[in-house]
Amino acid sequence: MNRFSLQCRRCGRVESFRPQATCGSCGSPQLEVQYAPDSTLAASWRRESAERSLWRYRDLLPIADARHAVSLGEGGTPLIAIERLGRQLGLGSLYTKDERQNPTGSFKDRQGSLALSILHEHGVPEVVVASTGNVALAYAAYGARAGIKVHAFLPSSIPAEKLREVLLYGARTTLVEGTYDATKSAAARFAQAHGLFLDQGFGTVAAVEGMKTLAFEIAEQLGWRAPDWYIQAVSGGMGPVGVAKGFSELQALGLVDKVPAMGLVQVSGCAPMAEAFHGRLRQPLPVLEPATAVLPLATGTPGPAYELLFDLLSRDGGTFTTASDAEAWEVMRLLARTEGISVEPATAVTFAGLIKLIESGAIGPNECVVVNVSGHTYSVEAHVVTGHPADLQESVSGT
Ligand SMILES: Cc1ncc(COP(=O)(O)O)c(C=O)c1O
Ligand SMILES: [Zn+2]
Repeated sequence: MNRFSLQCRRCGRVESFRPQATCGSCGSPQLEVQYAPDSTLAASWRRESAERSLWRYRDLLPIADARHAVSLGEGGTPLIAIERLGRQLGLGSLYTKDERQNPTGSFKDRQGSLALSILHEHGVPEVVVASTGNVALAYAAYGARAGIKVHAFLPSSIPAEKLREVLLYGARTTLVEGTYDATKSAAARFAQAHGLFLDQGFGTVAAVEGMKTLAFEIAEQLGWRAPDWYIQAVSGGMGPVGVAKGFSELQALGLVDKVPAMGLVQVSGCAPMAEAFHGRLRQPLPVLEPATAVLPLATGTPGPAYELLFDLLSRDGGTFTTASDAEAWEVMRLLARTEGISVEPATAVTFAGLIKLIESGAIGPNECVVVNVSGHTYSVEAHVVTGHPADLQESVSGT
């Protein structure tokens, strides 16, 4: 048996691994990677390793030959105890997983590295990807390193700094007037017309498999233990689906005893998943005109991840909450000034949501909470800082 294969989430059929596939039995595009049991794995992972990248966990990644890994040292990011802000918020055990320290400044480098590694291993020469910015940045960088041409489709409202970075890596970019959903459709049409490989986000296994390495690292950094909560802002929902799969795999290995509850935050102006969850709906209603400046979180039609999250939260606990752009802006400064951590607005939404989850009593004072600090300010700096220089100056001199 191969070390890994694809299994259909809908009907359970198992097939050999390909970078993109639909189920040969029911036609579903929702396939998940499964791994052959390995009784030596838990003991080998428990041994300390000097390796500081997500490739430390290559035994549970869908790459046959590790020499095909396209790496810039992604993953292996620090888990930082946030004591002062934790105390202010009434939490005794608050950590940030500092994903800003990835090569292009966001957690999407986990997906980018793995996606381009898979394409490299399977000899795919070009890839089409739709993104609000961070995925395109990651794919552009890893595409350059792999020698794979990247066609990035981006909403025209993308901050100029992010666009510049994507272009710097040599990706071919197309700006689409309209929402992120319109951008995804344009990318799909382009890929179809030119017979090119289309990265389908959640439908491409790299998203979930890349993100699950967050769980492996968090568990190891906590001494092979799962936190009580994992907190993240969500748009497509790839992160928490991956993290939950990672903790489930660790649980099956006996390395942790549970999957953490998920505290998932959406921005108020575009919260289809949060609204569906609180309405007990398995299908979200689309948000046709997202009303937020936080572009990475402006996915109006979340797609299949929501249903999985609905089931996961029902099984392992957790909830959705929302935070506004204004609340995020305020928390962005609080975090920078209290802990020296400067984050992009999408990540500030996470912290604003965390505060709500604490205030509502969903998260208790003695629970261990890990927050994904998913992206750095630098790529949107002009938008965040120069856009409000007077404000910033005023509050600096006022303190
Ligand atoms: C910085 C940042 N945080 C959070 C998210 C949400 O990620 P997802 O919903 O795919 O898990 C994104 C998505 O692009 C992002 O760029
Ligand atoms: Zn099937």
